[in-house]
Amino acid sequence: MSRSDIVEVVLAAGKGTRLKSSRAKVLHEVGGRTLVDHVVRACLPLRAREIVVIVGYQAAEVGAAVEALGARTVLQEPQRGTGHAVLVARRVIGSARHVLVVPGDAPLLRPATLSALMRAHQQSGAAATILSAEVPNPAGYGRVVRKEDNSVAAIVEDSAVSDEQRAISEINSSTYCFATAELWPCLGQLKPTNTHRELYLTDVIALLRQRGQSVQAVMAADPTEILGCNTRADLAAADGILRARKCAEVMDSGVTIRLPETVVIDPEVTVGEDTVIEPSVQLLGRTRIGSECTIGAGSVLMDSVLEDRVTVRPHSMIRGSHLERGSSAGPFARLRDGARLEENAHVGNFVEVKKSTLESGAKAMHLSYLGDARIGRETNIGAGTITCNYDGVHKNATVIGRRAFIGSDSALVAPVRIGDGAYVAAGSVITENVPPNALGIARGRQLNKLGWATARRREQAAEAAAGGKRTKKKSPRRSPSPRRGSSSKKRSKKSSRKSPRKRSRR
Ligand code: UD1
Ligand code: MG
Repeated sequence: MSRSDIVEVVLAAGKGTRLKSSRAKVLHEVGGRTLVDHVVRACLPLRAREIVVIVGYQAAEVGAAVEALGARTVLQEPQRGTGHAVLVARRVIGSARHVLVVPGDAPLLRPATLSALMRAHQQSGAAATILSAEVPNPAGYGRVVRKEDNSVAAIVEDSAVSDEQRAISEINSSTYCFATAELWPCLGQLKPTNTHRELYLTDVIALLRQRGQSVQAVMAADPTEILGCNTRADLAAADGILRARKCAEVMDSGVTIRLPETVVIDPEVTVGEDTVIEPSVQLLGRTRIGSECTIGAGSVLMDSVLEDRVTVRPHSMIRGSHLERGSSAGPFARLRDGARLEENAHVGNFVEVKKSTLESGAKAMHLSYLGDARIGRETNIGAGTITCNYDGVHKNATVIGRRAFIGSDSALVAPVRIGDGAYVAAGSVITENVPPNALGIARGRQLNKLGWATARRREQAAEAAAGGKRTKKKSPRRSPSPRRGSSSKKRSKKSSRKSPRKRSRR
Protein backbone atom coordinates (compact mmCIF):
# COMPACT_ATOMS: atom_id res chain seq x y z
CA MET A 1 0.00 0.00 0.00
CA SER A 2 1.55 3.29 -1.02
CA ARG A 3 1.15 6.44 1.03
CA SER A 4 -0.95 7.98 -1.74
CA ASP A 5 -3.58 5.28 -1.16
CA ILE A 6 -4.30 6.56 2.37
CA VAL A 7 -6.15 9.59 3.65
CA GLU A 8 -6.35 10.29 7.37
CA VAL A 9 -9.63 11.72 8.63
CA VAL A 10 -9.75 13.42 12.02
CA LEU A 11 -13.25 13.82 13.50
CA ALA A 12 -13.37 17.23 15.15
CA ALA A 13 -16.74 18.79 14.35
CA GLY A 14 -18.62 18.09 17.60
CA LYS A 15 -19.33 20.63 20.32
CA GLY A 16 -18.45 18.40 23.24
CA THR A 17 -21.62 18.91 25.24
CA ARG A 18 -20.36 16.91 28.21
CA LEU A 19 -17.58 19.45 28.88
CA LYS A 20 -20.18 22.17 29.53
CA SER A 21 -18.00 24.75 27.78
CA SER A 22 -18.44 27.58 25.30
CA ARG A 23 -15.26 26.40 23.59
CA ALA A 24 -15.26 23.47 21.16
CA LYS A 25 -14.06 20.30 22.85
CA VAL A 26 -11.11 19.75 20.52
CA LEU A 27 -9.77 23.24 21.36
CA HIS A 28 -9.39 22.41 25.05
CA GLU A 29 -5.78 22.00 26.10
CA VAL A 30 -3.99 19.09 27.69
CA GLY A 31 -0.24 18.64 28.00
CA GLY A 32 0.35 22.15 26.63
CA ARG A 33 -1.54 21.69 23.33
CA THR A 34 -5.13 21.51 22.13
CA LEU A 35 -6.67 18.06 21.74
CA VAL A 36 -6.85 18.36 17.97
CA ASP A 37 -3.27 19.60 17.78
CA HIS A 38 -2.08 16.41 19.52
CA VAL A 39 -4.15 14.24 17.20
CA VAL A 40 -3.00 15.91 13.97
CA ARG A 41 0.63 15.70 15.13
CA ALA A 42 0.19 11.98 15.81
CA CYS A 43 -1.11 11.59 12.23
CA LEU A 44 1.76 13.51 10.56
CA PRO A 45 4.51 10.82 10.65
CA LEU A 46 2.34 8.41 8.61
CA ARG A 47 2.84 10.75 5.68
CA ALA A 48 -0.55 9.85 4.19
CA ARG A 49 -1.72 11.61 1.03
CA GLU A 50 -3.67 14.06 3.13
CA ILE A 51 -4.88 14.76 6.66
CA VAL A 52 -8.50 15.89 6.51
CA VAL A 53 -10.03 17.39 9.63
CA ILE A 54 -13.82 17.44 9.87
CA VAL A 55 -14.83 20.76 11.42
CA GLY A 56 -18.23 22.07 12.45
CA TYR A 57 -18.67 23.70 15.85
CA GLN A 58 -16.34 26.74 15.93
CA ALA A 59 -15.11 25.66 12.50
CA ALA A 60 -13.00 28.78 11.92
CA GLU A 61 -11.01 28.40 15.14
CA VAL A 62 -10.51 24.66 14.78
CA GLY A 63 -9.64 25.15 11.10
CA ALA A 64 -7.00 27.76 11.89
CA ALA A 65 -5.40 25.46 14.48
CA VAL A 66 -5.08 22.47 12.15
CA GLU A 67 -4.30 24.27 8.91
CA ALA A 68 -1.20 25.63 10.65
CA LEU A 69 -0.05 22.02 10.86
CA GLY A 70 -0.67 21.36 7.16
CA ALA A 71 -4.07 19.64 7.46
CA ARG A 72 -7.05 20.36 5.24
CA THR A 73 -10.56 20.94 6.58
CA VAL A 74 -14.03 19.83 5.51
CA LEU A 75 -17.13 21.40 7.00
CA GLN A 76 -19.78 19.17 8.54
CA GLU A 77 -22.91 21.25 9.02
CA PRO A 78 -25.04 20.21 10.83
CA GLN A 79 -23.19 17.56 12.83
CA ARG A 80 -25.22 14.41 12.46
CA GLY A 81 -22.85 11.90 14.01
CA THR A 82 -19.47 10.24 13.47
CA GLY A 83 -20.72 8.25 10.44
CA HIS A 84 -22.05 11.41 8.82
CA ALA A 85 -18.71 13.13 9.53
CA VAL A 86 -16.84 10.58 7.39
CA LEU A 87 -19.50 10.81 4.66
CA VAL A 88 -19.01 14.55 4.22
CA ALA A 89 -15.31 13.92 3.49
CA ARG A 90 -16.08 11.49 0.67
CA ARG A 91 -15.32 13.90 -2.15
CA VAL A 92 -11.99 14.88 -0.61
CA ILE A 93 -11.04 11.27 0.10
CA GLY A 94 -11.72 10.65 -3.59
CA SER A 95 -9.88 7.69 -5.02
CA ALA A 96 -7.81 6.84 -1.93
CA ARG A 97 -8.21 3.11 -1.25
CA HIS A 98 -7.96 3.32 2.51
CA VAL A 99 -9.01 5.77 5.13
CA LEU A 100 -7.64 5.99 8.65
CA VAL A 101 -10.27 7.55 10.93
CA VAL A 102 -9.05 9.14 14.18
CA PRO A 103 -11.23 10.89 16.79
CA GLY A 104 -10.20 14.47 17.52
CA ASP A 105 -10.60 13.95 21.26
CA ALA A 106 -7.93 11.25 21.77
CA PRO A 107 -4.72 13.21 22.48
CA LEU A 108 -2.71 10.28 23.85
CA LEU A 109 -2.53 8.29 20.61
CA ARG A 110 1.05 7.71 19.51
CA PRO A 111 2.18 7.77 15.86
CA ALA A 112 3.65 4.26 16.29
CA THR A 113 0.22 2.93 17.29
CA LEU A 114 -1.40 4.42 14.20
CA SER A 115 1.35 2.96 11.98
CA ALA A 116 0.94 -0.48 13.59
CA LEU A 117 -2.82 -0.32 12.99
CA MET A 118 -2.29 0.61 9.36
CA ARG A 119 0.24 -2.22 8.93
CA ALA A 120 -2.14 -4.79 10.46
CA HIS A 121 -4.92 -3.57 8.15
CA GLN A 122 -2.66 -3.83 5.16
CA GLN A 123 -1.41 -7.32 6.05
CA SER A 124 -4.84 -8.86 6.79
CA GLY A 125 -6.66 -7.26 3.85
CA ALA A 126 -9.72 -6.78 6.08
CA ALA A 127 -12.45 -4.34 5.08
CA ALA A 128 -12.09 -2.67 8.49
CA THR A 129 -9.52 -2.81 11.26
CA ILE A 130 -10.51 -1.39 14.64
CA LEU A 131 -8.03 -0.19 17.24
CA SER A 132 -9.45 -1.65 20.44
CA ALA A 133 -8.21 -1.85 24.05
CA GLU A 134 -8.88 -3.85 27.19
CA VAL A 135 -9.73 -1.41 29.97
CA PRO A 136 -10.70 -1.98 33.60
CA ASN A 137 -13.59 0.47 33.37
CA PRO A 138 -15.28 0.33 29.94
CA ALA A 139 -18.23 2.54 30.95
CA GLY A 140 -18.96 5.24 28.36
CA TYR A 141 -17.19 3.48 25.48
CA GLY A 142 -18.58 1.39 22.64
CA ARG A 143 -17.94 -2.34 23.27
CA VAL A 144 -16.37 -4.66 20.71
CA VAL A 145 -18.78 -7.59 20.49
CA ARG A 146 -17.25 -10.81 19.21
CA LYS A 147 -18.85 -14.00 17.94
CA GLU A 148 -18.16 -17.44 19.37
CA ASP A 149 -15.36 -17.93 16.82
CA ASN A 150 -13.84 -14.71 18.24
CA SER A 151 -14.43 -12.72 15.05
CA VAL A 152 -15.74 -9.17 15.47
CA ALA A 153 -19.53 -8.98 15.08
CA ALA A 154 -20.34 -5.37 15.96
CA ILE A 155 -19.61 -2.32 18.07
CA VAL A 156 -22.39 -1.57 20.52
CA GLU A 157 -22.53 1.89 22.05
CA ASP A 158 -22.59 2.20 25.85
CA SER A 159 -26.12 3.60 25.73
CA ALA A 160 -27.37 0.49 23.89
CA VAL A 161 -25.49 -2.39 25.56
CA SER A 162 -27.36 -5.35 27.03
CA ASP A 163 -26.55 -6.36 30.62
CA GLU A 164 -24.37 -9.13 29.25
CA GLN A 165 -22.49 -6.79 26.87
CA ARG A 166 -21.96 -4.22 29.62
CA ALA A 167 -19.32 -6.47 31.16
CA ILE A 168 -17.23 -6.60 27.96
CA SER A 169 -13.91 -4.95 28.68
CA GLU A 170 -12.71 -4.63 25.07
CA ILE A 171 -13.67 -1.15 23.90
CA ASN A 172 -13.69 0.78 20.63
CA SER A 173 -11.09 3.55 20.52
CA SER A 174 -12.92 5.19 17.59
CA THR A 175 -9.71 4.79 15.55
CA TYR A 176 -10.13 2.55 12.50
CA CYS A 177 -8.79 1.76 9.06
CA PHE A 178 -11.38 1.16 6.35
CA ALA A 179 -11.11 -0.02 2.78
CA THR A 180 -13.05 2.77 1.06
CA ALA A 181 -14.64 0.47 -1.55
CA GLU A 182 -16.37 -1.41 1.29
CA LEU A 183 -16.96 1.63 3.49
CA TRP A 184 -19.05 3.85 1.18
CA PRO A 185 -21.96 1.43 0.62
CA CYS A 186 -22.24 0.82 4.38
CA LEU A 187 -22.14 4.53 5.25
CA GLY A 188 -25.01 4.99 2.80
CA GLN A 189 -27.04 2.45 4.75
CA LEU A 190 -26.65 4.08 8.20
CA LYS A 191 -29.87 4.94 10.03
CA PRO A 192 -30.23 7.34 12.98
CA THR A 193 -31.90 4.68 15.11
CA ASN A 194 -30.27 5.62 18.42
CA THR A 195 -31.05 7.89 21.34
CA HIS A 196 -29.17 10.83 19.77
CA ARG A 197 -30.71 10.31 16.31
CA GLU A 198 -27.24 10.39 14.78
CA LEU A 199 -25.48 8.35 12.10
CA TYR A 200 -22.97 6.30 14.05
CA LEU A 201 -19.75 5.21 12.37
CA THR A 202 -19.73 2.28 14.79
CA ASP A 203 -22.80 0.79 13.05
CA VAL A 204 -20.70 0.30 9.91
CA ILE A 205 -19.02 -2.71 11.56
CA ALA A 206 -22.20 -4.81 11.79
CA LEU A 207 -23.18 -3.71 8.26
CA LEU A 208 -19.82 -4.86 6.89
CA ARG A 209 -20.25 -8.24 8.59
CA GLN A 210 -23.75 -8.55 7.16
CA ARG A 211 -22.24 -8.01 3.71
CA GLY A 212 -19.79 -10.84 4.42
CA GLN A 213 -16.77 -8.59 4.81
CA SER A 214 -13.99 -9.33 7.28
CA VAL A 215 -13.42 -7.03 10.23
CA GLN A 216 -10.63 -7.33 12.72
CA ALA A 217 -9.74 -5.57 15.93
CA VAL A 218 -6.16 -4.89 16.96
CA MET A 219 -5.55 -4.34 20.65
CA ALA A 220 -3.53 -1.25 21.65
CA ALA A 221 -0.36 -2.27 23.50
CA ASP A 222 -0.87 0.63 25.93
CA PRO A 223 -4.59 0.94 26.76
CA THR A 224 -4.13 4.44 28.25
CA GLU A 225 -3.47 5.73 24.72
CA ILE A 226 -7.04 5.43 23.60
CA LEU A 227 -8.55 7.67 26.30
CA GLY A 228 -11.19 9.90 24.70
CA CYS A 229 -11.70 13.26 26.41
CA ASN A 230 -15.44 13.75 26.87
CA THR A 231 -15.50 15.29 30.36
CA ARG A 232 -13.35 17.65 32.47
CA ALA A 233 -12.20 14.62 34.43
CA ASP A 234 -11.04 12.98 31.17
CA LEU A 235 -9.11 16.18 30.30
CA ALA A 236 -7.39 16.12 33.71
CA ALA A 237 -6.47 12.45 33.29
CA ALA A 238 -5.06 13.03 29.78
CA ASP A 239 -3.12 16.07 30.98
CA GLY A 240 -1.57 14.06 33.83
CA ILE A 241 -0.47 11.30 31.45
CA LEU A 242 1.01 13.72 28.90
CA ARG A 243 2.87 15.66 31.62
CA ALA A 244 4.25 12.41 33.02
CA ARG A 245 5.38 11.37 29.52
CA LYS A 246 7.24 14.66 29.02
CA CYS A 247 8.89 14.46 32.46
CA ALA A 248 9.98 10.88 31.73
CA GLU A 249 11.48 12.01 28.41
CA VAL A 250 13.34 14.90 30.09
CA MET A 251 14.65 12.62 32.87
CA ASP A 252 15.80 10.11 30.25
CA SER A 253 17.90 12.87 28.70
CA GLY A 254 19.88 13.30 31.94
CA VAL A 255 17.87 15.79 33.98
CA THR A 256 16.99 15.37 37.67
CA ILE A 257 13.37 16.15 38.47
CA ARG A 258 12.34 16.08 42.12
CA LEU A 259 8.71 15.00 42.60
CA PRO A 260 8.01 14.84 38.84
CA GLU A 261 4.29 14.40 39.49
CA THR A 262 4.22 18.09 40.55
CA VAL A 263 6.22 19.41 37.57
CA VAL A 264 4.67 20.76 34.35
CA ILE A 265 6.82 20.88 31.20
CA ASP A 266 5.38 21.97 27.85
CA PRO A 267 6.10 19.83 24.78
CA GLU A 268 8.61 22.15 23.11
CA VAL A 269 10.75 22.82 26.18
CA THR A 270 14.33 21.51 26.14
CA VAL A 271 16.53 20.96 29.21
CA GLY A 272 20.28 20.21 29.28
CA GLU A 273 22.10 17.47 31.18
CA ASP A 274 22.57 17.60 34.95
CA THR A 275 20.06 20.35 35.40
CA VAL A 276 17.97 19.94 38.55
CA ILE A 277 14.28 20.79 38.52
CA GLU A 278 12.77 21.15 41.98
CA PRO A 279 9.12 20.41 42.90
CA SER A 280 6.17 22.38 41.49
CA VAL A 281 8.16 24.01 38.69
CA GLN A 282 6.42 24.93 35.41
CA LEU A 283 8.50 25.20 32.23
CA LEU A 284 6.22 26.63 29.56
CA GLY A 285 6.13 27.65 25.90
CA ARG A 286 9.44 27.61 24.07
CA THR A 287 11.68 27.71 27.12
CA ARG A 288 15.21 26.37 26.59
CA ILE A 289 17.37 25.48 29.56
CA GLY A 290 21.06 24.64 29.42
CA SER A 291 23.15 22.15 31.42
CA GLU A 292 23.87 22.20 35.15
CA CYS A 293 21.16 24.71 35.94
CA THR A 294 18.93 24.62 39.02
CA ILE A 295 15.30 25.66 38.80
CA GLY A 296 14.01 26.34 42.31
CA ALA A 297 10.74 25.05 43.68
CA GLY A 298 7.56 26.76 42.55
CA SER A 299 9.20 28.77 39.75
CA VAL A 300 7.36 29.42 36.47
CA LEU A 301 9.44 29.96 33.32
CA MET A 302 7.85 30.87 30.00
CA ASP A 303 9.42 31.45 26.57
CA SER A 304 12.81 32.07 28.15
CA VAL A 305 16.37 30.99 27.48
CA LEU A 306 18.70 29.92 30.28
CA GLU A 307 22.28 29.20 29.31
CA ASP A 308 24.43 26.70 31.27
CA ARG A 309 24.89 26.92 35.05
CA VAL A 310 22.07 29.35 35.69
CA THR A 311 20.40 29.27 39.10
CA VAL A 312 16.77 30.22 39.53
CA ARG A 313 15.92 30.24 43.22
CA PRO A 314 12.44 29.26 44.43
CA HIS A 315 9.21 31.02 43.51
CA SER A 316 10.52 33.13 40.64
CA MET A 317 8.55 34.08 37.53
CA ILE A 318 10.53 34.46 34.33
CA ARG A 319 8.96 35.28 30.98
CA GLY A 320 10.47 36.27 27.65
CA SER A 321 13.88 36.65 29.27
CA HIS A 322 17.45 35.53 28.60
CA LEU A 323 19.78 34.47 31.41
CA GLU A 324 23.38 34.01 30.39
CA ARG A 325 25.82 31.48 31.81
CA GLY A 326 26.36 31.64 35.57
CA SER A 327 23.67 34.24 36.23
CA SER A 328 21.04 33.84 38.94
CA ALA A 329 17.60 35.09 39.87
CA GLY A 330 15.41 34.83 42.95
CA PRO A 331 14.09 33.73 45.30
CA PHE A 332 10.87 35.60 44.43
CA ALA A 333 12.29 37.37 41.37
CA ARG A 334 10.15 38.54 38.47
CA LEU A 335 11.80 38.82 35.07
CA ARG A 336 9.48 40.09 32.37
CA ASP A 337 9.71 40.41 28.60
CA GLY A 338 13.08 41.60 27.41
CA ALA A 339 14.96 41.06 30.67
CA ARG A 340 18.55 39.96 30.09
CA LEU A 341 21.06 38.90 32.71
CA GLU A 342 24.52 38.72 31.22
CA GLU A 343 27.17 36.35 32.56
CA ASN A 344 27.26 36.19 36.35
CA ALA A 345 24.72 38.95 36.82
CA HIS A 346 22.47 38.42 39.83
CA VAL A 347 18.96 39.47 40.69
CA GLY A 348 17.67 38.75 44.19
CA ASN A 349 14.42 38.67 46.08
CA PHE A 350 11.48 40.88 45.12
CA VAL A 351 13.29 42.39 42.16
CA GLU A 352 11.28 43.02 38.99
CA VAL A 353 13.14 43.46 35.71
CA LYS A 354 11.45 44.47 32.45
CA LYS A 355 13.09 45.18 29.09
CA SER A 356 16.41 45.76 30.84
CA THR A 357 19.90 44.35 30.68
CA LEU A 358 22.13 43.75 33.66
CA GLU A 359 25.59 43.50 32.16
CA SER A 360 28.07 40.91 33.29
CA GLY A 361 28.57 40.81 37.08
CA ALA A 362 25.93 43.48 37.82
CA LYS A 363 23.75 42.91 40.87
CA ALA A 364 20.34 43.98 42.11
CA MET A 365 19.74 41.82 45.14
CA HIS A 366 16.71 43.26 46.92
CA LEU A 367 13.34 44.95 46.36
CA SER A 368 13.81 46.82 43.08
CA TYR A 369 12.04 47.73 39.86
CA LEU A 370 14.30 47.99 36.84
CA GLY A 371 12.42 48.86 33.63
CA ASP A 372 13.80 50.08 30.28
CA ALA A 373 17.26 50.20 31.81
CA ARG A 374 20.80 49.22 30.98
CA ILE A 375 22.99 48.49 33.98
CA GLY A 376 26.72 48.40 33.34
CA ARG A 377 29.19 45.67 34.27
CA GLU A 378 29.72 45.07 37.98
CA THR A 379 27.39 47.83 39.00
CA ASN A 380 25.57 47.39 42.29
CA ILE A 381 21.94 48.40 42.56
CA GLY A 382 21.02 49.01 46.22
CA ALA A 383 17.91 47.67 47.89
CA GLY A 384 14.71 49.44 46.93
CA THR A 385 16.06 51.21 43.84
CA ILE A 386 13.35 52.16 41.36
CA THR A 387 13.77 53.24 37.75
CA CYS A 388 10.87 55.66 37.23
CA ASN A 389 10.53 54.78 33.53
CA TYR A 390 6.99 55.98 32.85
CA ASP A 391 6.06 59.68 32.76
CA GLY A 392 2.39 58.94 32.18
CA VAL A 393 2.77 59.05 28.40
CA HIS A 394 6.10 57.55 27.38
CA LYS A 395 8.49 54.91 28.64
CA ASN A 396 11.95 56.40 29.16
CA ALA A 397 15.36 54.81 29.49
CA THR A 398 17.79 54.71 32.41
CA VAL A 399 21.41 54.06 31.52
CA ILE A 400 23.86 53.23 34.29
CA GLY A 401 27.55 52.83 33.53
CA ARG A 402 30.09 50.31 34.74
CA ARG A 403 31.09 49.79 38.37
CA ALA A 404 28.57 52.35 39.54
CA PHE A 405 26.96 52.16 42.97
CA ILE A 406 23.31 53.08 43.41
CA GLY A 407 22.49 53.65 47.09
CA SER A 408 19.43 52.02 48.59
CA ASP A 409 15.98 53.50 48.10
CA SER A 410 16.98 55.69 45.17
CA ALA A 411 14.50 56.76 42.52
CA LEU A 412 16.09 57.26 39.10
CA VAL A 413 13.70 59.46 37.13
CA ALA A 414 14.12 58.54 33.47
CA PRO A 415 15.40 59.57 31.01
CA VAL A 416 18.59 59.71 33.05
CA ARG A 417 22.21 58.55 32.84
CA ILE A 418 24.55 57.58 35.64
CA GLY A 419 28.17 57.58 34.51
CA ASP A 420 30.81 54.87 34.94
CA GLY A 421 32.07 54.61 38.49
CA ALA A 422 29.52 57.12 39.82
CA TYR A 423 27.80 56.89 43.18
CA VAL A 424 24.21 57.77 43.98
CA ALA A 425 23.58 58.52 47.64
CA ALA A 426 20.94 56.41 49.35
CA GLY A 427 17.45 57.85 49.32
CA SER A 428 18.12 60.16 46.37
CA VAL A 429 15.58 61.16 43.76
CA ILE A 430 17.83 61.55 40.72
CA THR A 431 16.36 63.75 38.00
CA GLU A 432 19.61 64.88 36.36
CA ASN A 433 22.47 62.91 34.85
CA VAL A 434 25.30 61.99 37.23
CA PRO A 435 28.71 62.34 35.56
CA PRO A 436 31.25 59.50 35.70
CA ASN A 437 32.94 59.07 39.09
CA ALA A 438 30.74 61.76 40.71
CA LEU A 439 28.45 61.40 43.71
CA GLY A 440 24.84 62.26 42.98
CA ILE A 441 22.98 63.21 46.13
CA ALA A 442 19.42 64.48 46.01
CA ARG A 443 17.60 64.36 49.34
CA GLY A 444 16.64 66.51 52.35
CA ARG A 445 19.48 67.30 54.77
CA GLN A 446 19.48 65.66 58.18
CA LEU A 447 19.14 67.71 61.36
CA ASN A 448 20.18 66.26 64.76
CA LYS A 449 18.63 68.02 67.78
CA LEU A 450 20.95 67.12 70.64
CA GLY A 451 19.31 66.19 73.94
CA TRP A 452 15.84 66.51 72.42
CA ALA A 453 14.79 62.96 73.33
CA THR A 454 15.94 63.30 76.97
CA ALA A 455 13.95 66.52 77.35
CA ARG A 456 10.91 64.93 75.77
CA ARG A 457 11.01 61.95 78.12
CA ARG A 458 11.35 64.27 81.14
CA GLU A 459 8.27 66.20 80.03
CA GLN A 460 6.30 63.01 79.51
CA ALA A 461 7.18 61.81 83.00
CA ALA A 462 6.09 65.18 84.47
CA GLU A 463 2.83 65.08 82.57
CA ALA A 464 2.13 61.55 83.74
CA ALA A 465 2.73 62.55 87.38
CA ALA A 466 0.47 65.63 87.12
CA GLY A 467 -2.23 63.74 85.28
CA GLY A 468 -2.18 60.89 87.81
CA LYS A 469 -2.80 63.29 90.74
CA ARG A 470 -5.71 64.97 88.99
CA THR A 471 -7.32 61.65 88.13
CA LYS A 472 -6.96 60.47 91.72
CA LYS A 473 -8.69 63.59 93.11
CA LYS A 474 -11.65 63.55 90.75
CA SER A 475 -12.37 59.88 90.43
CA PRO A 476 -9.88 57.25 91.52
CA ARG A 477 -11.29 54.55 89.24
CA ARG A 478 -11.60 56.66 86.04
CA SER A 479 -9.16 56.43 83.15
CA PRO A 480 -7.40 59.64 81.96
CA SER A 481 -9.72 62.27 80.53
CA PRO A 482 -10.11 62.13 76.73
CA ARG A 483 -9.33 65.87 76.63
CA ARG A 484 -5.86 65.21 77.99
CA GLY A 485 -4.52 64.56 74.50
CA SER A 486 -5.23 68.08 73.27
CA SER A 487 -3.85 69.77 76.40
CA SER A 488 -0.69 67.68 76.31
CA LYS A 489 -0.25 68.64 72.67
CA LYS A 490 -0.27 72.29 73.63
CA ARG A 491 2.20 71.69 76.43
CA SER A 492 4.59 69.70 74.29
CA LYS A 493 4.55 72.41 71.63
CA LYS A 494 5.46 74.97 74.26
CA SER A 495 8.16 72.86 75.90
CA SER A 496 9.70 71.79 72.59
CA ARG A 497 10.50 75.45 72.12
CA LYS A 498 12.57 75.58 75.28
CA SER A 499 13.99 72.01 75.54
CA PRO A 500 16.81 71.27 73.05
CA ARG A 501 18.90 74.42 72.80
CA LYS A 502 21.81 73.00 70.92
CA ARG A 503 21.52 71.85 67.41
CA SER A 504 24.01 69.82 65.53
CA ARG A 505 24.34 69.47 61.83
CA ARG A 506 26.04 66.78 59.97
C1 UD1 B 1 -17.08 7.49 20.22
C2 UD1 B 1 -17.56 6.13 19.68
C3 UD1 B 1 -17.38 5.07 20.76
C4 UD1 B 1 -15.95 5.02 21.24
C5 UD1 B 1 -15.48 6.41 21.69
C6 UD1 B 1 -14.00 6.38 21.95
C7 UD1 B 1 -19.37 6.63 18.10
C8 UD1 B 1 -20.84 6.65 17.87
N1 UD1 B 1 -18.94 6.25 19.29
O1 UD1 B 1 -17.94 7.84 21.28
O2 UD1 B 1 -17.75 3.80 20.24
O3 UD1 B 1 -15.81 4.08 22.28
O4 UD1 B 1 -15.72 7.39 20.67
O5 UD1 B 1 -13.56 7.58 22.48
O6 UD1 B 1 -18.63 6.94 17.18
N2 UD1 B 1 -17.71 14.22 15.83
C9 UD1 B 1 -17.84 14.84 14.59
N3 UD1 B 1 -19.08 14.99 14.06
C10 UD1 B 1 -20.20 14.53 14.67
C11 UD1 B 1 -20.06 13.90 15.92
C12 UD1 B 1 -18.79 13.76 16.49
O7 UD1 B 1 -16.85 15.24 13.99
O8 UD1 B 1 -21.29 14.70 14.10
C13 UD1 B 1 -16.36 14.10 16.43
C14 UD1 B 1 -16.27 14.74 17.80
O9 UD1 B 1 -15.89 16.10 17.70
C15 UD1 B 1 -15.20 13.89 18.48
C16 UD1 B 1 -15.27 12.54 17.77
O10 UD1 B 1 -16.07 12.75 16.63
O11 UD1 B 1 -13.90 14.44 18.30
C17 UD1 B 1 -15.93 11.47 18.65
O12 UD1 B 1 -17.20 11.94 19.07
P1 UD1 B 1 -17.67 11.81 20.56
O13 UD1 B 1 -18.93 12.52 20.73
O14 UD1 B 1 -16.56 12.13 21.47
O15 UD1 B 1 -17.96 10.23 20.62
P2 UD1 B 1 -17.97 9.31 21.92
O16 UD1 B 1 -19.27 9.43 22.59
O17 UD1 B 1 -16.77 9.53 22.72
MG1 MG C 1 -15.29 11.01 22.67
